[in-house]
Amino acid sequence: MIEYTDYSLLSRNTFRMDVKAARFVEYESEDELAGFLSSGGLREPYLHIGGGSNLLFLADYPGLILHSGIRGMEIVSETDERVEVRAGAGVVWDDFVAYAVARGWYGAENLSLIPGEVGASAVQNIGAYGAEAKDLIVSVEAVEAMTGKKRRFSNAECRYAYRESVFKKELKGKCFVTYVTYRLGKLPVFRLDYGNVRAELEKEGLEPTLANVRRVIISIRKNKLPDPEVTGNAGSFFMNPVISRSRFEALRAEYPDMPSYPLGGDRVKVPAGWLIDRCGWKGKALGPAAVHDRQALVLVNRGGATGRDVLRLADEVVRSVHDRFGITISPEVNVIG
Ligand code: EPU
Repeated sequence: MIEYTDYSLLSRNTFRMDVKAARFVEYESEDELAGFLSSGGLREPYLHIGGGSNLLFLADYPGLILHSGIRGMEIVSETDERVEVRAGAGVVWDDFVAYAVARGWYGAENLSLIPGEVGASAVQNIGAYGAEAKDLIVSVEAVEAMTGKKRRFSNAECRYAYRESVFKKELKGKCFVTYVTYRLGKLPVFRLDYGNVRAELEKEGLEPTLANVRRVIISIRKNKLPDPEVTGNAGSFFMNPVISRSRFEALRAEYPDMPSYPLGGDRVKVPAGWLIDRCGWKGKALGPAAVHDRQALVLVNRGGATGRDVLRLADEVVRSVHDRFGITISPEVNVIG
């Protein structure tokens, strides 16, 4: 276990906020974490982070920040049709995707290049291009914050929904994910009908293979989303709001080109990016924070922005979407401080 005091978080958050943590601990194994917790390691306010790609720090963090250094991936069961892989929470998510694609295993390829780590994939239920982590997750292992006790959650017990899980709700801050077991398929199944995945494959003259789907998704993401190494950002700043069908029909009568994803029942998900774009925010700046010029769902740090600068912009965006559409959008990013 490595412990630091007055630790700079600059390289630990993709918004590139120049803030510090009073204490920072990185552990290398589940036993190390359990030992630290059961011996009363959590005395002050604490926060467990992953790759820092979904965080907005408003100020220095006065307590303890924990980070998992649990790495490694192993096959835990295998048949002719599928394989189950157990990965450490500290594995970089895209390394897991690359590992699966290289071995010819299906299911993770649409989630290529999503920033962050395996642990967060299970907490956040990351998703893109018609796929979500929950479709792959068999079970999640975690350690209780207060006792160090090990627990195992089945997929159902994780209570997954769009960007939602028990780890973000009832168990928020109460359990730290240590391992995630994913099920991947060995038989070819592709999901190409979300966004422009199929069109991009055709444009490039590429057959749908695992490697090609991964390549195309990486190129679409690189095109639309700013590289956090160059421009601080945390991907989608807001979640796509879910509204009732009757509300959607009323809005569609006024805005016939409004995109939507029916969720079944009475619920319809509408893209926050489209709503924000329609309010004229795309590419607009408010001081050192701005709305990305190629994807209005992403807020960026133009250089030197503080968390409060970004939050001020986010508040303005929320207000104008509400004024125009009567929909309140909420952040996907965790605001800390
Ligand atoms: N749109 C606009 N203007 C914009 C942005 C989007 O009109 O500035 C329209 C698009 O034309 C499209 C629709 O809104 O019709 C949806 O846009 P897009 O397909 O880019 O996806 P999204 O709903 O904005 C979600 C995820 C992304 C994920 C993409 C691709 C959320 C909050 N975001 O974005 O996830 O990569 O789908 O599947 O669900 C993230 O969570 O950080 C993230 C990047």
